[in-house]
Amino acid sequence: MSLFDIKDRMDTLVKELNQHNYNYYVLAQPSISDFEFDKKLEELIELEKSYPEYQNPDSPTQKVGGEITKEFQTVKHRWPMLSLGNTYNEQDLRDFDERIRKAIGNDFEYVCELKFDGLSMSLTYQGGKLVRAVTRGDGTQGDDVTSNVKTIRTIPHRLSGTGYPDDFEIRGEVFMHRAAFERLNRERLENDEVPYANPRNFAAGTVKLQDSAEVAKRPLDCFIYFLYTEQRLFRSHWESLQAVKSWGFHTCEHNKLCSTIDDVLDFIQYWDEKRHDLSYDIDGIVLKVNGYAQQEELGFTAKSPRWAIAYKYKAQEVETVLEKVTYQVGRTGAVTPVANLKPVLLAGTTVKRATLHNANEIERLDLYEGDTVLVEKGGEIIPKVIAVNTLKRPAGAAKVQYPTSCPECGSTLIRPEGEVAYYCPNDEGCPPQIVGRIQHFISRKAMNIDGIGAETIEAFYRQGFVKQISDLYTLHEKRESLMGLERFGEKSITNMLEGIEKSKEMPFEKVLFGLGIRFVGETVAKKLAAHFQNIDRLLSASLEELTAVDEIGERIAESLIAYFDQAKHREQLNLLKSYGLQFESLQKEIVLEGDQLAGLNFIISGVFENYSRDELKDLIESYGGKILSSISGKLNYVVAGDNMGPSKLEKAQKLGIPIISDEELLKMIGL
Ligand code: IVH
Repeated sequence: MSLFDIKDRMDTLVKELNQHNYNYYVLAQPSISDFEFDKKLEELIELEKSYPEYQNPDSPTQKVGGEITKEFQTVKHRWPMLSLGNTYNEQDLRDFDERIRKAIGNDFEYVCELKFDGLSMSLTYQGGKLVRAVTRGDGTQGDDVTSNVKTIRTIPHRLSGTGYPDDFEIRGEVFMHRAAFERLNRERLENDEVPYANPRNFAAGTVKLQDSAEVAKRPLDCFIYFLYTEQRLFRSHWESLQAVKSWGFHTCEHNKLCSTIDDVLDFIQYWDEKRHDLSYDIDGIVLKVNGYAQQEELGFTAKSPRWAIAYKYKAQEVETVLEKVTYQVGRTGAVTPVANLKPVLLAGTTVKRATLHNANEIERLDLYEGDTVLVEKGGEIIPKVIAVNTLKRPAGAAKVQYPTSCPECGSTLIRPEGEVAYYCPNDEGCPPQIVGRIQHFISRKAMNIDGIGAETIEAFYRQGFVKQISDLYTLHEKRESLMGLERFGEKSITNMLEGIEKSKEMPFEKVLFGLGIRFVGETVAKKLAAHFQNIDRLLSASLEELTAVDEIGERIAESLIAYFDQAKHREQLNLLKSYGLQFESLQKEIVLEGDQLAGLNFIISGVFENYSRDELKDLIESYGGKILSSISGKLNYVVAGDNMGPSKLEKAQKLGIPIISDEELLKMIGL
């Protein structure tokens, strides 16, 4: 398949799967068998792993739990959402400037803005309140994503200041900061979910999520760049930007007024270098004629305003030499090829390594040792090799061969059916897998053990001090021998042993996550700990009991069963238990404020404007009510906020369970 065909296939799969989901969830008329659906989804997942650059933000892999439960309402834009003319070169900008001067003379200014790399959003405010948020869509009509957008903290629900019109639209770009993108993508990897290719896709995928509570967990931001009002309130774009800032909107502090095209070109050059220091991605700059009267005079073409233009920066790419390909073995045994490059400066940093993803990618690139390769750093954090300059291939160069055995332990690699990655099956004896598992256990998100880091674990493993997680808890018996190690003083050993001792207080959910069971990420571990309360109940749970838990699908359930089936894992658990680690969820002490809800069972679902779900849960419990984990006949009320999942809603309605708002709950308590 050519690259074009691959992208085409991926887009087709996205379209088909989304349509099947719609038929299934919204129309309740399944158009394909579950088996066929899963096969297509698997094909898409594998293609996305091999070709992350072609990942479509609408892909069902980018939705939580694949649960597509809500269709967004289509809304027509009051003012069409136009695009901008684009250019990549200086001459086009000078020509643009000439055209403007011919049309309106020389007495005007430009507002220079950064071109944020996210998705455009149209916000409607009435009476000072946010009433609607709509995506660009096809420019004429878009999706109503109000409840999701309401979770973005820099978009005010209520305006401050004075002077805003009663009814207006305002537009801006919703985006994700790079740091959040990296953090959340790391979490997706830990949870064995397909990572997003870049912050833009992550932001776009997030805005289209079905579950606003999940959206709220993914920090988005929004820069405002245009105000639409029926009556003209200000004389210029610049003035309106100052005003909207005073109403509580987030405007970019780097906007600049320029009076000549040379000033504009300086701005472009400055940001071409400095953009890498920003905390978010930009892909160019936008140039707008400032005066509203002059904008009006210039008017529009069919697609874009004549008074504005975008200058786009070229994707950052550079040629360098591939020195060798090495293979990294991860905690799960997956073997990932890495291109080791002759160091080269790219997008503000020195690049020495680039990802090659998997064996398919090596095949696609047709790589030879010593090849001159083109490396690109786009929105992605890790640079990637995008092409090979075959003209510069050294004579007699050897083709890069993906290994058949593990570079670390020599075991024959396996490729599970339907996966692109090769794995080393020697999970008990392959050093990086063992070290990786222990490193995961001590990591910040798991047991967060103070005084010990990833490198120490590696050194301890090499010296034979730790071979499995439970060995950490006998390290204190080896204090004297540890003292003999280089770089280990009395104090650092004491700190480490104290940290290890203290970790025995970490809650059950952290221990469970720390074990590194495949597909059991942080959220899943939390759900399991909350549901089963202790390890014994979890150990003896059947597939049906596991999948009955909110958000636990068959893939996770099967992985848990396979893990607990192994005697060596059960032995580890027993050892850890005997050392005093937490294998039981502690019940939070409930201080009773009243008994208005005594004997009543509740479920909380959706997103609430004034409370978090945890706050409502505490409130119910402090007035004697109980929270159930699934909808059943025992339930008395569903407290529903925005975007309650339709499957839950349907189940509750079928059982005739009253659905109440948070306000009604407060009334029941008498608050
Ligand atoms: S102004 C009529 N300003 O670029 C004016 N757009 O191709 C419309 N964008 O859809 C847009 N940063 O999503 C404007 N400072 C900025 C921008 C910006 C990013 C995006 C926006 C728009 C696209 C235009």
